[in-house]
Amino acid sequence: MTEPESTLPHVTLNFAMSLDGKISTAARGRFRFTSGRDRRVMDEIRARSDAVLIGGATLRAEDPPLQVRDARLREGRILAGHDEKLINIVLSASLNLPLGGRFFTTPGIRRIVATVEDARAELLASVKGLAEIVRLGQGRVPIPELLKRLSERGISRLLVEGGGEVNASFFEAGCVDEIYVTVAPIVIGGRSAPTPAGGEGFLAGGTAAFELVSCRSEENEIFIHYRRRSVAAGS
Ligand SMILES: NC(=O)c1ccc[n+]([C@@H]2O[C@H](COP(=O)([O-])OP(=O)(O)OC[C@H]3O[C@@H](n4cnc5c(N)ncnc54)[C@H](OP(=O)(O)O)[C@@H]3O)[C@@H](O)[C@H]2O)c1
Repeated sequence: MTEPESTLPHVTLNFAMSLDGKISTAARGRFRFTSGRDRRVMDEIRARSDAVLIGGATLRAEDPPLQVRDARLREGRILAGHDEKLINIVLSASLNLPLGGRFFTTPGIRRIVATVEDARAELLASVKGLAEIVRLGQGRVPIPELLKRLSERGISRLLVEGGGEVNASFFEAGCVDEIYVTVAPIVIGGRSAPTPAGGEGFLAGGTAAFELVSCRSEENEIFIHYRRRSVAAGS
């Protein structure tokens, strides 16, 4: 019998970057550099998602709250028949994660840890009971297969909130459908400061391409929305 074809979740990336294309300082710690308007936009994007995914390094650096903040947006989700709370997902090969922090201890949240098949047994044991564990791949989680597993868990709209290594994993797999970027009016600098897409990088000719949906400025920030370039546009 052939397996029924699964539709992979729609993947949206959202990040903020400085004028010089950095998402944090070279120290890779927690660094907020956008306005309340940007946080509102982020909340609206979250409100349209089933789950939000971050990387192990972002969890270690920030352990950010990963829910919709605005009560009206949460109400809207309920009225539309969605769960009030977003599923929270962390992608981590090392499983070196702050188990006593917000991500793992906030009550009433469905959590998924996506890790590798060769993850260390003692760390797997310490995460078990705090989150559902999805294990895929050796050394690195293959993103298309992870998306298939998330789809089987009822996730059809996945929001990826970085950082740059996680974004690169999704770009490299060709699994990014939409991008929201906020450009903030500062320069961070630092040759080793993270950018929106780390990883190994593409060679010329192999780059991921997108088309502009909208672009608007408010005060000193620019809010840009891109979507996956259609085949016709790319040919
Ligand atoms: N400005 C923004 O919008 C924004 C957004 C998010 C984060 N940030 C900042 O960005 C910085 C962190 O970014 P980053 O690029 O250093 O790291 P990151 O992308 O947050 O996390 C990288 C980690 O994610 C895991 N990972 C990524 N791809 C994987 C794969 N395919 N399979 C298994 N694990 C995978 C690994 O975790 P393990 O190491 O656990 O194995 C890897 O080391 C922080 O300073 C944070 O504050 C900024």
